[in-house]
Amino acid sequence: MNDTSPSRLERMIARLSAQKAFLDFAASQVRDLPGPILEIGLGKGRTFSHLAKLFPSREIYAFDDGLRAPADSAPEPARLALGDFRLTLAAMRGRIAPAALAHADFGSEDRGFDAGQAVWLAPLIAALMAPGGLVVSDRALSMPGWTPLAGPEGLEWTYHAARAG
Ligand SMILES: C[S@@+](CC[C@H](N)C(=O)[O-])C[C@H]1O[C@@H](n2cnc3c(N)ncnc32)[C@H](O)[C@@H]1O
Repeated sequence: MNDTSPSRLERMIARLSAQKAFLDFAASQVRDLPGPILEIGLGKGRTFSHLAKLFPSREIYAFDDGLRAPADSAPEPARLALGDFRLTLAAMRGRIAPAALAHADFGSEDRGFDAGQAVWLAPLIAALMAPGGLVVSDRALSMPGWTPLAGPEGLEWTYHAARAG
């Protein structure tokens, strides 16, 4: 690292700032679109907690391979799907109403691994979305029929948004 490259702390601040800005943006976009919210990558529950604040009266379903979030930042067990996304997202098909918003926060420090996951994640998410619903993600996701959106400007971290067809 040299003096001009961002520190790990600065990169984390940039990432979390981008997440908050995109979730706030998404909330404004789907205010009038009914349907549950999907948190794909519950992790420590930070973004779940923000989604719960933005959508106090919506059902929020969370997915992860394990529970690492404190109780106040995780959904009740009936809305928590633990296991590999491949299985849990597929199992949700037909069991919940079409989703207004999916936040896919599945990234790791291995960009190549994440790109591989993105290939199979996108169709699994697409199958759960309402037409016009928003998909916000920490890694690029694309599907035929989805329209990429620019999202908020002026951020120092790349985040992604698309409107489902
Ligand atoms: C970046 S973290 C999520 C952070 C979280 N949104 C927060 O704000 O605290 C990504 C999470 O996705 C989970 N994950 C990644 N790939 C997965 C997969 N294929 N199946 C289930 N969980 C997965 C990881 O275990 C990790 O908890």
